[in-house]
Amino acid sequence: MLFQKTARSAAALFGFLFCLSLAAQAQTSTLPNVTILATGGTIAGTGATSTTTVGYTAATVGIQTLIQAVPEMTKIANVSGEQVFQIASENMGNEHWLLLAKRVNTLLAQPTVDGIVITHGTDTLEETAYFLNLVVKSRKPVVVVGSMRPSTALSADGPINLYNAVMLAGSQEAIGRGVLVAMNDQINGARDVTKSNTTTTDTFKASELGMLGYIQGGKPYFYRTATRKHTVETEFDVMNLSTLPQVEIAYAHANVGPVAVEALVASGAKGLIHAGVGNGSLPAKVRPALSAARKKGVLIVRSSRVGQGIVARNGEANDDELDFVAGDNLSPQKARILLMLALTKTTNTRDIQKMFSTY
Ligand code: DGL
Repeated sequence: MLFQKTARSAAALFGFLFCLSLAAQAQTSTLPNVTILATGGTIAGTGATSTTTVGYTAATVGIQTLIQAVPEMTKIANVSGEQVFQIASENMGNEHWLLLAKRVNTLLAQPTVDGIVITHGTDTLEETAYFLNLVVKSRKPVVVVGSMRPSTALSADGPINLYNAVMLAGSQEAIGRGVLVAMNDQINGARDVTKSNTTTTDTFKASELGMLGYIQGGKPYFYRTATRKHTVETEFDVMNLSTLPQVEIAYAHANVGPVAVEALVASGAKGLIHAGVGNGSLPAKVRPALSAARKKGVLIVRSSRVGQGIVARNGEANDDELDFVAGDNLSPQKARILLMLALTKTTNTRDIQKMFSTY
């Protein structure tokens, strides 16, 4: 009699535990699957003390440690992590971009991956985000995130930024919006965002054109959407590329001469971004060097160091006559990215000018 009672209660207990485990599985199967690709930066940085917010070492903490530091993420997504590379982002190179873009596209092609977060140093974060905005071939969310304080600092911004980025990457709202930058509770589009302050946590802004939305209470709120083509709408594909064309930037200033332009062309540049003063003005001492470069087949884009506004075609220079491209409102560093990808498709100035009006 006792044996039968014991057997019945053991069976009941087993049944209860089995249902619990099914419920637990059911819970995680309703969560989005988000992969975090780690590349380094301050978000993975460490300082000597909790008050060290400058003079710390970037790119020292591995992705699994970053994930373990934010256990709350397991409640909003099934998170997995990969350390793609571990660098301070001032050292980002074309080879890193190609590696990252190929991994992103490979992962997003898998039905089991719903979104991707990329942890990244903030120094070139805007450039990586824009590059991916032009070469990712999926509508699934890709969110780039960093931090301005190292993980060891008082009020480190990395953990909450990472939590928000994972939430956003797993959200329905972020689908089809292009590559996003999520930091400081703000959502920015990859094309227009730039690092606007050397050290403060609110550094990422699209100052005149504005952010796309907010993150509040662990939810995304969008108010605007990107208007230029991105991701699946672009003509660029890097999956079979092992290198990218060399494109350089020459910065203009008072008293500037042709030396930088001539040296960059001599180094083998296939394209040159002129970060002009004002509306992309060409100083008289530099114009001949740019014109000579064009005649050698180097593509020239007139951009501006100003930071906001459109460089008007045939405004401060006769682009038609010089066979130059006007860089629209892209910063010089983003104009470099678009010209680099354009040169994987064409060297025709008119076609490239159309790309600057499209992306
Ligand atoms: N070395 C800089 C970088 O990796 C640190 C800045 C940061 O990540 O916030 O971009």
